[in-house]
Amino acid sequence: MAKRHFPKDFLWGASTAAHQVEGNTHNQWSEWEQRHAFQLAAAAPDRFQSLPNWPIIQPLVTKPENYLSAEGAAHYTRYKEDFALLKQLNLNAFRFSIEWSRLEPTEGEWDEAAFTHYRDYLAALQAAGVEPIMTFWHWTIPTWFTDRGGFSRRRNVRFFSRFVQKVTEAYGSTLHYVLTINEPNVYTAFSYLNGEWPPQTKNPATALSVYLNLVQAHREAHRIIKRLKPTLQVGMSMNLADSRPKNAHSLVSRLVAFMADYFWNRWFLNRIRRELDFIGVNYYFTNYYQGVRVRNPAKPINDMGWYMEPSGLARVLETAWRHYRLPLMVTENGLADANDESRQWWLEQSLEAMQQAVDNGVDLRGYLHWSLLDNFEWSSGWWPKFGLVAVDRRTMKRTVRPSARWLAKQIVKG
Ligand code: BGC
Repeated sequence: MAKRHFPKDFLWGASTAAHQVEGNTHNQWSEWEQRHAFQLAAAAPDRFQSLPNWPIIQPLVTKPENYLSAEGAAHYTRYKEDFALLKQLNLNAFRFSIEWSRLEPTEGEWDEAAFTHYRDYLAALQAAGVEPIMTFWHWTIPTWFTDRGGFSRRRNVRFFSRFVQKVTEAYGSTLHYVLTINEPNVYTAFSYLNGEWPPQTKNPATALSVYLNLVQAHREAHRIIKRLKPTLQVGMSMNLADSRPKNAHSLVSRLVAFMADYFWNRWFLNRIRRELDFIGVNYYFTNYYQGVRVRNPAKPINDMGWYMEPSGLARVLETAWRHYRLPLMVTENGLADANDESRQWWLEQSLEAMQQAVDNGVDLRGYLHWSLLDNFEWSSGWWPKFGLVAVDRRTMKRTVRPSARWLAKQIVKG
């Protein structure tokens, strides 16, 4: 099995984000959910009816509760149980995000109880021998920050910087890896361009400001973290799509695939390449362009209808390595698969893809699967199941999926 060739200190883990698992968060997303749950439930047929699994998901997606993060997966209180699951699965790394709205619920006022919580949380990871990989910002913001205009205003970046400083002062000494921000490309596109996510803005000029402000937010965060702890490895997570022409002989399709790659994958990274110790790669998508349209094969697809080509991870890693020559870490990779029908295949293919990349000289440091737990999939809500571990949200009982057991067996320690 390919795993033999991974570096000895390779990080094998899983990823989460605070708002998607913790439960009872109060931020711009939770407020938006409260206001839109009914509307989203009513719009469900339009959005999901064309999926092959529609008869199965219909009862879930047409209920407003599906669209409320609410109690989450109760990770905020059950984190020790979840860390025991990591151990059980032979995982030695865990990515999570720290929730800004808990630590600074009111502008300039820091919640000591929340700081204590994350201190205990990190101590529990350390006790379990699991490497923490902390994300400062995974899309959720305190409501006071939203009221000030969020990341659409350049002068608001200083609030994020202050938060980064506080958190680094509190926890920097216990960490080796941090990620400043998660997928600025997805956030900007969904929140400011296509209007699907809060604040549901559809304005290219605002989107550009947000994108540029996130560049600045990363740069400042990098400077602050390095000043406080020069050895801390600073990265960010980028959604990197594998863009390909459907017909390699079509000049137009090749040009469009090239542009998609440039604007989606590289435009942001090009601006921060000197302020990065490593790149966090989030890989889900291979897109085949026919002219300006994406024309993917009809199969295989995951529960959300996303075309699956897990081997594309190799191309994404090799391209990122070629452009940036920076260490890479897969910080997300996975699929919505409630019945666990395709997850093992996806994992097999992903391990092979990583092996290929490593054999071709890519400096790859780790693989963090998305996700450890079934979680709140943003505007799609609870029905998509991304977890290595299933969560029954009535009882909060965790059940390890068979594919996760398979992965655990592939990971040889030491
Ligand atoms: C995000 C996650 C999300 C996952 C699956 C990534 O774009 O960072 O928060 O749940 O994809 O859609």
